[in-house]
Amino acid sequence: MASPAKAAPKSAAPKKAAAPAPKKAPAAASSNGKSTAARKHAGSNAAVNILPNINQQQNAPSPTQRYGTVSQRLPIGLSEDTRQSSVTMLNQLLADTITLRDMYKKHHWQVVGPTFYQLHLLFDKHYEEQSVLVDSIAERIQVLGGVAIAMAHDVAELTSLPRVPRDREEAPVQVSRLLDGHQRILKNCHDYASKADETGDDGTNDLIVSELVRTNELQVWFVAEHVVDSPLTQAE
Ligand SMILES: [Fe+2]
Repeated sequence: MASPAKAAPKSAAPKKAAAPAPKKAPAAASSNGKSTAARKHAGSNAAVNILPNINQQQNAPSPTQRYGTVSQRLPIGLSEDTRQSSVTMLNQLLADTITLRDMYKKHHWQVVGPTFYQLHLLFDKHYEEQSVLVDSIAERIQVLGGVAIAMAHDVAELTSLPRVPRDREEAPVQVSRLLDGHQRILKNCHDYASKADETGDDGTNDLIVSELVRTNELQVWFVAEHVVDSPLTQAE
């Protein structure tokens, strides 16, 4: 027997899903969930349209920058001339401070004599303090949009401090060299602080006066007090 033809399946028309009824927002709430009353009292800045810093690519830093140039990228309210003037002065102070810092380490290693221990420790303490100054100066140069000098050969070319011999020298000579280095840096500091003040670069003026002058003067005191005519190992 032939089996009865299968009835064609009813083409089931897809049932339209009933769209859920939109929930009615509570009358007193806004789209972000805050009540109108809350928005009203959100503060006086609620109505201020704060624009983002658009076109940032135009101000994006170039991946390279030539030494001696200054960038206006950072918005710190200083003109290009002011930045250039400060960066030039700060690079001079940076080269001289790196040189003085390294002179302290040289003398820390090479000092001899009855005052060995205290000078050995003192020179290293001053080395550490000069290292802090080096970082402060270099970072100020970068903030101003300049390029900080860094490498030993560049420092050697730029520094205004006289070259120190490789030889080991007596403690009084080491002390004299350090005091001379401090004085050269301090003279420049006074000159440069005035110039930074004149051009309106308060940050550089403050760095030079508050950090460089104060630290160098204090170190001069601690070093200079060793210059006395009082031999420790001889008695009259
Ligand atoms: Fe050491």
